[in-house]
Amino acid sequence: MDFGGYPDRGGTFLQDKLSDRAPVLDELRRPLRDLRISLTDRCNFRCPYCMPREMFGPDHKFLSADETLTLDEILRITRHLVDLGVEKIRLTGGEPLLRPDLARVIESIMRIEGVQDIALTTNGSLLTPRRARQLADAGLRRITISLDALSDDAFRRMNDVGFPVRRVLDAIHAAKDAGLEPVKVNMVVRRGYNEQEILPMVEHFRYSGVILRFIEYMDVGTTNGWNLADVVSADEILEQISSVHPLHPVSPRVPGEVATRFQFDDGAGEIGLIHSVTKPFCGGCTRLRLTAEGDLYTCLFAARGTPLRQRLREGISDSELRQVLEQVWRVRKDAYSQHRHEYTSAAERIEMSKIGG
Ligand code: GTP
Ligand code: 5AD
Ligand code: SF4
Ligand code: SF4
Repeated sequence: MDFGGYPDRGGTFLQDKLSDRAPVLDELRRPLRDLRISLTDRCNFRCPYCMPREMFGPDHKFLSADETLTLDEILRITRHLVDLGVEKIRLTGGEPLLRPDLARVIESIMRIEGVQDIALTTNGSLLTPRRARQLADAGLRRITISLDALSDDAFRRMNDVGFPVRRVLDAIHAAKDAGLEPVKVNMVVRRGYNEQEILPMVEHFRYSGVILRFIEYMDVGTTNGWNLADVVSADEILEQISSVHPLHPVSPRVPGEVATRFQFDDGAGEIGLIHSVTKPFCGGCTRLRLTAEGDLYTCLFAARGTPLRQRLREGISDSELRQVLEQVWRVRKDAYSQHRHEYTSAAERIEMSKIGG
């Protein structure tokens, strides 16, 4: 079935409907449209597939304050990238709510002319009603909360710090009450861990207005011991859900959207499936990623980024900076998910907690 979006690698690009700016194109003629900014490499959870506690224990060296980009540095880079085509910004982490100046980051980014959308991906643990309102007042439009299980036992095991599920459910309410709607909930499905949670999650969020999205477990980073057998495919997930609650596909809201959308036939709302492993969407990948330490990554699976922090601090001029950024995108050829089988499992890759998904 064709769900629309950009044609695949090698095809011609459809005219982007978002605006008439002329963004810089990469080697595969993909425009630069989205920027994902990781605000910190720290997280208060230790999900084993992302920050396993054996690797991210007390001895792990997280970035110091001095090694982390300041708000002004983030803004400087962002302004140039917006000139080069970026319209959508997503703030990630680690856990972005650990960053005390988060509301200020949002407010300042929203003031950049050309930014059309700003969203946040969080584990929800620190999202109190007060904080949710503060972020909405600062200009946040949308929020995505990660939640991999509904049963308290399973959830405590999965975050590996014993964090209760009730508080994440409260955070989802807080986000809705603050008007950050529609709230999206991301569930990474991993075989042997949480497939049994798929249907309870569906039942819980039907009729709630929340868009539940199922993500195929990916081989990001090098610490999670990923194996293809751990992946529960989007088709399998869809089959499981639709055998109980029939669904029909709906077209993407925006071109290049990573989730394919489905609505319940009975009007109970919408779900999304992110099939990054079984049906890669590299052909429409318009995403650039900036880490908290100031490295730019052109792919979630890249081994290396382009370091910017030192150059900013050594006084790089605006025109030079712009040239560096433009060049990073122009030479981009990444399509990792489409060629996954050609890589060895020992390949060097950035960790998920540094690049924020
Ligand atoms: P929307 O703007 O709401 O569509 O956001 P989004 O779906 O792009 O953002 P979110 O952070 O919720 O992304 C969901 C998940 O999809 C991420 O956590 C990743 O697991 C996966 N994902 C997002 N972008 C990419 C990508 O470029 N490549 C791959 N392989 N996976 C991605
Ligand atoms: N595969 C798929 N998604 C992942 N995430 C973290 N690690 C993985 C992985 N290995 C998701 C988180 C969160 C988003 C930032 O990325 O659950 O929703
Ligand atoms: Fe878990 Fe997200 Fe924290 Fe990683 S960044 S440990 S996935 S909550
Ligand atoms: Fe984009 Fe890389 Fe993901 Fe492909 S694997 S969609 S190129 S980030």
